[in-house]
Order: sequence, then structure tokens, then C-alpha cells
Amino acid sequence: MLTDVLTDAVDGRAIRALSLASELLCDRGALLVRARTLTFVPGERAWTRVLDTPDADAWLIAWDGSSRVGAHDHGGSHGAVHVLQGTLTESYRPNPKEATERVRHITRGTTLTIPEDHVHDVANLGRRRALSLHVYSPRLTSMTFYPPVPG
Ligand SMILES: [Fe+2]
Repeated sequence: MLTDVLTDAVDGRAIRALSLASELLCDRGALLVRARTLTFVPGERAWTRVLDTPDADAWLIAWDGSSRVGAHDHGGSHGAVHVLQGTLTESYRPNPKEATERVRHITRGTTLTIPEDHVHDVANLGRRRALSLHVYSPRLTSMTFYPPVPG
């Protein structure tokens, strides 16, 4: 069950992503075993797909200390991100015309919903590794990357 959810928008696709995340997290042990198969590169992320259906997919992402994605979108997919271990930091602009970024920390046990038009950066700013589950509906087929916000 998802108990601590940070949500900006909930519609059918977001609910689908949240529902699948909840289902996958019912066997947290299997996810942790799967995570052990990931090979770490210092300062980088490693990932593996754990679900692949016609309307959704899910990925386990292991974050080494000081790793980050860079500002990106999700190609129109809704998403749900659940942090299994460690803490991730998300930076985003709620309004694309707004210059100031907002920052929120996604701690262990927290789930974040990602609206279809959301652009954000996610990082593990700590030294310890973090592990997260990412579910997308529709399936994640593209990501566009953006330059960092000056400031
Ligand atoms: Fe993302």
C-alpha cells in the first residue's frame, strides 16, 4: 500500500501508474533482489525494467551518490516514483514561465506522481546509494532533455 504520496494531478493514467506501483511494491523483496543484479558505476545510475505491458512499464533505478538525470520530460507519460532506499531530490518549475525552481526531497517510502507535462530533474545528492521504482503509463517511449535553469 502507498501511504505517503506527493501528488500534483490524478487522472486515469496517473491512477494506473500508482496502482501498478502499489502492486509491484507488494513484493518489495523481489524488487530488492532484482536491484542486486544492477552494476554500479561511480556517480552514475543503473536501471532495469521490471514490468512491460502494452499500456505501462516500470523500472528500478539505482542511484550512486552524486548521480542525477538532468532536466527532462517523460514524452507525455504519467508516472509514479517510489523511493525504496535513500532520499532523492527533485527540482522542477511548476509553471514553465516561472524562472524559480522548486525543490522537494523524496524520502524512503514516499511516492511522487508525475503529471504528463512535468519537467524535472532528479538527483541523489547524498553519498549513500538510493533505489527507486518508476512506473509510467503509457509506456515511457521518449524523454526530452533540457538545459539546467540558470541561477
Ligand atoms: Fe523523470
